[in-house]
Amino acid sequence: LTKWDDIFKAGSFGLKEPDKFVVDFSRVLKERKAKTVLDLGCGAGRNLIFFVREGFDVYGLDISKVALRKAKETLSQEGFSTELKNADMTALPYISEFFDAIVCIYVIYHNTLEGMRKAIAEIHRSLKKKGLALLVFQSRRSWKYRLGKQIEQGTFVQTEEPEKGVIHHFSDEHEIKHLLSEFRILDMKLDEFEFKGRLHSHWIAMIEK
Ligand SMILES: C[S@@+](CC[C@H](N)C(=O)[O-])C[C@H]1O[C@@H](n2cnc3c(N)ncnc32)[C@H](O)[C@@H]1O
Repeated sequence: LTKWDDIFKAGSFGLKEPDKFVVDFSRVLKERKAKTVLDLGCGAGRNLIFFVREGFDVYGLDISKVALRKAKETLSQEGFSTELKNADMTALPYISEFFDAIVCIYVIYHNTLEGMRKAIAEIHRSLKKKGLALLVFQSRRSWKYRLGKQIEQGTFVQTEEPEKGVIHHFSDEHEIKHLLSEFRILDMKLDEFEFKGRLHSHWIAMIEK
């Protein structure tokens, strides 16, 4: 079992509502007549189930079996089922040019920089031409920046619970544009909010293959 299984067992990330920027993205997908959508790092499935309800042909993938079990339960409570796979984002178990769209929400930065490069190359491979993706990156303005032990430039492993052992890579705009150089960036913005006096800061990128 992974660290992520422990986190899901402890009841974290059990949110039910989809992200606002996922809801906005689904409108763009409908305009484009997109059908097949991958929720990469779907967790307990709040965005996954939103896409299912909206009528997309949805696939989910996560490294945590516990998270996938929760996602499956939520889906079956509403009478839905979709293909869920237990795999690592750096090696996607899908054929090339399969998806119209991929969302990767609060996931891709749980990696080293090299791991992020691999995951982005996999997103590129498995998207159809002109396919869209929505990716969320951690910003260096986040309160979490520099928390824990640094293992390389911009990458930290947390040393305190509740995220002890969890890896985070923090990016700036320049680095993200470089990581996404194989794509066309349709929109990129900083999303920030304060919670309990702490600044949460993420870059949200909508990209096209
Ligand atoms: C912060 S949660 C976000 C979950 C979901 N996307 C959401 O917005 O509710 C991060 C997720 O990434 C998954 N994850 C972490 N590392 C992964 C990896 N290497 N491959 C696939 N999934 C991973 C975790 O299991 C967890 O479900």
